[in-house]
Amino acid sequence: MIIEPRTRGFICLTSHPKGCEQNVIDQIEYIKSKGAIDGAKKVLVIGASTGFGLASRITSAFGSGAATIGVFFEKPPSEGRPASPGWYNSAAFEKEAHKAGLYAKSINGDAFSNEIKKQTLDLIKADLGQIDMVIYSLASPVRTHPDTGVKYKSVLKPIGAKFQNKTVDFHTGAVSEVSIEPAQGDDIENTVAVMGGEDWKMWIDDLKSEGLLSEGFTTIAYSYIGPSLTEAVYRKGTIGRAKDHLEATAFTISDSLKPLNGKAYVSVNKALVTQASSAIPVIPLYISLLYKVMKEEGIHEGCIEQIQRLFQDRLYAGTTPTDDKGRIRIDDWEMRADVQARVAELWKEATTETLPKIGDLKGYEKDFFNLFGFMVDGVDYDADVNEMVEIPGLQ
Ligand SMILES: NC(=O)c1ccc[n+]([C@@H]2O[C@H](COP(=O)([O-])OP(=O)(O)OC[C@H]3O[C@@H](n4cnc5c(N)ncnc54)[C@H](O)[C@@H]3O)[C@@H](O)[C@H]2O)c1
Repeated sequence: MIIEPRTRGFICLTSHPKGCEQNVIDQIEYIKSKGAIDGAKKVLVIGASTGFGLASRITSAFGSGAATIGVFFEKPPSEGRPASPGWYNSAAFEKEAHKAGLYAKSINGDAFSNEIKKQTLDLIKADLGQIDMVIYSLASPVRTHPDTGVKYKSVLKPIGAKFQNKTVDFHTGAVSEVSIEPAQGDDIENTVAVMGGEDWKMWIDDLKSEGLLSEGFTTIAYSYIGPSLTEAVYRKGTIGRAKDHLEATAFTISDSLKPLNGKAYVSVNKALVTQASSAIPVIPLYISLLYKVMKEEGIHEGCIEQIQRLFQDRLYAGTTPTDDKGRIRIDDWEMRADVQARVAELWKEATTETLPKIGDLKGYEKDFFNLFGFMVDGVDYDADVNEMVEIPGLQ
């Protein structure tokens, strides 16, 4: 079939198998071009199909030659209906990994559930024995608690007061005022239940109690801080509470890993266009200004460049530098004082008229469509493409 993008708000309903494949191949080539990383050899990636998780899987496999198991929640294709992009990404990843002689298998289902945890543990037992790294990179709006069956929904709201600021509709380029009512009722608890650290700890506890973690085992989850511009709706909002919880959980997990000389880390990553971040009001405007400044400075990175630097210069650099809260910082270039000062200036000037010039709206749009395999260089979108792609190592 011929597949074209069909967008609704901040999501795209279609995705292109060839474009997704090309994205994955480009990321693999980037990792290969940066040379070998002396990292983990048996890696479980939870949230492995898009964004930072996919980049982590690619970096582990093609940087360190790791065997990888990927867990994700993606929609398979049906005749005439393309799959979700993470499906095609995972198919392309596994095809390339197998070609390179690397072990790669995947599990598609709800990582929050006991069933998917058990299936993953059984696979590790059968195929890998023990693992030396878990990358936890889930981004989800909902979580059904495996013990109680309660379904929690996360919200992106400020806490205490209404938030009012500029935002952009990146499809039209229209800059407008957005106003978000503060969290109420159980909003904070619900968001912490979905995006906090409880599920991360459950995974590690389960793996540990089955003896599936090797000596010196490491686990890492991803967080975000960002500037004062987005603080009210991000770091000091409901999602920020969840990130506080995730970051605190790293310490609890590290304690439990002491007998194995293991460690849990949180890495604070840069703001990037992913399916998760396009859903957050205000962030697209911030990102389009940030991209402009960072590209001008020659310090712009995507997910793959971020994770390559995280592995090479932080995690496997001998000693791992952390901030005063024990977090790895790979958002260092985003948070540079000169970068932030420039973004803050541009923010004041941003209107529908000025944004095309002062912001990188085009870059934002390209990155957004790239997530779904569209606007990818080297792909012939007029050619017929088979939507019924299989993931070779899907369990
Ligand atoms: N995008 C950013 O700007 C940014 C910046 C810093 C940190 N982070 C953090 O990085 C992490 C990953 O985010 P991302 O932006 O790469 O998101 P993403 O949307 O690209 O990826 C989310 C992944 O989680 C999987 N997933 C979602 N629900 C699932 C479920 N129930 N069961 C199994 N898999 C499920 C998806 O299949 C996908 O693989 C998040 O913790 C996010 O907060 C993101």
